[in-house]
Amino acid sequence: MNMVVVYYSGKGSNKFLAGKAADALDCEAVELKPRAPGLVMPATATKISFGNKPVTQDIAGFDRVVLCGPLYMGSIAAPCSDFIRKYGKAAKRIDFITCCGSTDEKKDDTFGYGRVFAKLKECLGSKAGEFEAFPIQLLLPEDKKNNDNEMMNTRMNDDNFNEAVQQRLYSFQSKLSR
Ligand SMILES: Cc1cc2nc3c(=O)[nH]c(=O)nc-3n(C[C@H](O)[C@H](O)[C@H](O)COP(=O)(O)O)c2cc1C
Repeated sequence: MNMVVVYYSGKGSNKFLAGKAADALDCEAVELKPRAPGLVMPATATKISFGNKPVTQDIAGFDRVVLCGPLYMGSIAAPCSDFIRKYGKAAKRIDFITCCGSTDEKKDDTFGYGRVFAKLKECLGSKAGEFEAFPIQLLLPEDKKNNDNEMMNTRMNDDNFNEAVQQRLYSFQSKLSR
């Protein structure tokens, strides 16, 4: 299957996750570059955005596009929604993964990933593929799992990409090959 990972990352966690996913899926990782990088947060909040620079890959040529990016204020980050707006029609299938702040336990809260995934699935309709969250909490040692400060300041990297995160990636990967 011909796949590509397309990602946006503000602080690095989703860039790292996109790289890991691309390695696992044996495909390229393509970075989304917002036209106004300093305005991603307000663009996400207001849904008014300057969009991304065009991607050079032929999105219609992929069987699956794995979109990867952070969640902000209960939504996918503006560069990811801008990508869907521009390439959603051309893409055959869009999967979504995120390294996010919300936890498995609170995924259905207002800012939880469960709610964001439900909205995104509705928006993508028949093109919606598999969705997986990689909460920052998974990266933390047991004694720091409920420490808000650690959650805010931890970025996904080689040192904290532990067995639990790897298993979640394997599970996502196996869903794509079904
Ligand atoms: C202003 C702000 C709002 C956020 N809102 C959410 C949210 O609604 N839900 C969530 O799960 N995570 C939320 N997060 C956490 C980010 O999704 C998380 O830090 C993510 O890993 C950042 O990815 P990056 O390092 O690739 O930029 C928020 C972070 C910031 C800074």
